[in-house]
Amino acid sequence: MKILVVGGGGREHAIIKSLAAEGRQLFCAPGNAGISNLATCVDIKINDIDGIVKFATEEKIDLALVSQDEPLVLGMVDALQSAGIRTFGPNKAAAIIEGSKAFSKDLMKKYNIPTAAYEKFTDSAAAIEYIKTQNSYPTVIKASGLALGKGVIIAQTFEEAKEAVVEMLEIGKFGDSGKEIVIEEFLTGPEVSVLAFTDGHCVRPMISSKDHKRAFDNDEGLNTGGMGVIAPNPFYTDEVEKIAYETILIPTIEAMNAEGRTFKGVLYYGLMITDKGPKVIEYNCRFGDPEAQVCLSLLKTDLLEIVDAVIDERLSEIEVKSEDGAAIIVMMCSGGYPESYEKGKEITGLDENGQNDAFHYVFHSGTVKKDGRYLSNGGRVLGLVAKGKDIADAQNSIYSNIDKVSFEKSFYRHDIGGKR
Ligand SMILES: Nc1ncnc2c1ncn2[C@@H]1O[C@H](COP(=O)(O)OP(=O)(O)O)[C@@H](O)[C@H]1O
Ligand SMILES: [Mg+2]
Repeated sequence: MKILVVGGGGREHAIIKSLAAEGRQLFCAPGNAGISNLATCVDIKINDIDGIVKFATEEKIDLALVSQDEPLVLGMVDALQSAGIRTFGPNKAAAIIEGSKAFSKDLMKKYNIPTAAYEKFTDSAAAIEYIKTQNSYPTVIKASGLALGKGVIIAQTFEEAKEAVVEMLEIGKFGDSGKEIVIEEFLTGPEVSVLAFTDGHCVRPMISSKDHKRAFDNDEGLNTGGMGVIAPNPFYTDEVEKIAYETILIPTIEAMNAEGRTFKGVLYYGLMITDKGPKVIEYNCRFGDPEAQVCLSLLKTDLLEIVDAVIDERLSEIEVKSEDGAAIIVMMCSGGYPESYEKGKEITGLDENGQNDAFHYVFHSGTVKKDGRYLSNGGRVLGLVAKGKDIADAQNSIYSNIDKVSFEKSFYRHDIGGKR
């Protein structure tokens, strides 16, 4: 069986690792040096829909998985399916749940799914007027479209809010993604990521997790793509889980069906546990990165079995089981990330397969291989995963081993999962 995964980061490395088994021939486009130990990497850009369809057709791919936001929002799944390729992931009509925050906010309002109060704007004068009349800070300004995780501004003052509005709507800082904005109420509480499989009928969540977005310890520094994750999320208690399932997880799937936009794939629910219960901060239309690396490391059910059940709309017939313990990932990054950084630094501590036995697994986010050596090739370079009987145990395991792997100017957070 031939399987193609589209993408080339740690998330795709984790998906490939979960799919790897005898009798399965794996391809990844474009992949990376770590992935190349498990799959044949093909040099096609993630947004090159025609190129991916051509490759999948010529190579007679039996199953394709698309897990990056941009190709999903652009309709890569639709294109693959039209070409007769069996594909896992939401179609364009459903991927809008991530591609347009204005759409997802309107959806939640229409179907009474708990979320922050908001208004949306395309005109800056109207937006600024609204901020003035609300007169409540902090306030949250969001570019509606995809913005590489940089499109959200938490404004502490009127001036900051106004600047964000002007940058998005007048100066065009995020291009088309910022032509419409959402201004929303600032909520407080711990955040929880829930990655759930759905076939449009039933929802089967994986273990809950907690991301750490800021670059430095104590949640200081700039926002990043994610510096580390723990699972399970200690704030996602059984009680919260039950409320979230009934008021958010299921209603979202039903709302998408009612809109004629049935969602099939992995839906990522970004939740905040407020004192009024769990509320949706945002949806993503695919596995989160680095949440996927941790959740898939704890997944007991064969990923391919779940993927098949989603595509064939019989997810209710199977269980999605996770291990009882905990897992942690700490991202090793290039000095300077998320701003400018250098690439091409030799990574020490990896064997020929890009692994180190001290860890459950080393997922590669941004690496290349030259003359048999692994070199850094991105801001986030490696994701080091440890498992344990609980979070403290996993945390000890990761931090007592982490310095076995390094490269010049590398850095990581020392407090993923909380201070030790
Ligand atoms: N209404 C809100 N109240 C408080 N914090 C928020 C709110 N909306 C977003 N945030 C914070 O900003 C982060 C990014 O916002 P999100 O909507 O997830 O956008 P994206 O992931 O696309 O950048 C969230 O993880 C959360 O920490
Ligand atoms: Mg987010």
